[in-house]
Amino acid sequence: MKQIIFITSNKHKVREANKIGKSFGVEFKQKFFSYPEIRADSVNDVAKEGAKYCYEKLRKALIVEDSGLFINALNKFPGTYSKFVLGKIGLDGILRLMQNKKDRTAFFVSSVGFADKNQIKTFNGVVKGKIAKKIRGSCGFGYDPVFIPNGFRKTYGEDDKIKNKTSHRFKSITKFCKWYHKYS
Ligand code: IMP
Repeated sequence: MKQIIFITSNKHKVREANKIGKSFGVEFKQKFFSYPEIRADSVNDVAKEGAKYCYEKLRKALIVEDSGLFINALNKFPGTYSKFVLGKIGLDGILRLMQNKKDRTAFFVSSVGFADKNQIKTFNGVVKGKIAKKIRGSCGFGYDPVFIPNGFRKTYGEDDKIKNKTSHRFKSITKFCKWYHKYS
């Protein structure tokens, strides 16, 4: 097993990453370390700057991950502010903003930022879907109970098995694992 430090306070992200990492021989070790998240519209930029900052402070190979939900009818809101917005208005607030919206399409984006002494690299994943009309299910975290991935009827909150095979994080972490497995 190859190990890598995963800087995050979110245990759900680490659990999801380790389910994926298993088949690639990569193990993610959670580390709590607070780093500034830059203000940017792209999770890619946030992950890149985060990884760079953490490496400069810790001097160990590591990853950070930045992700968000982008709702098309809301001009891609809440995007990189997803965590903050959820804390302020909750899922009920999001559903209220979506009342009477015909277009319920949305997508999650995840960007894994890797940094070590040689380089800073990012790995991205996107999953498209739509916003449910009600909160459904209690698996996972964040916006999972209101997100229905394309091709399915259930929300991620109702079925975490679907999430583990289709999500933005599944895609970004898979890309990272394939690369890291070979990288020495
Ligand atoms: P951050 O990447 O820790 O800045 O937080 C991103 C925020 O986006 C999370 O706190 C969630 O609110 C939301 N989010 C990101 N990924 C997911 C996911 O897989 N499911 C549900 N919500 C997510």
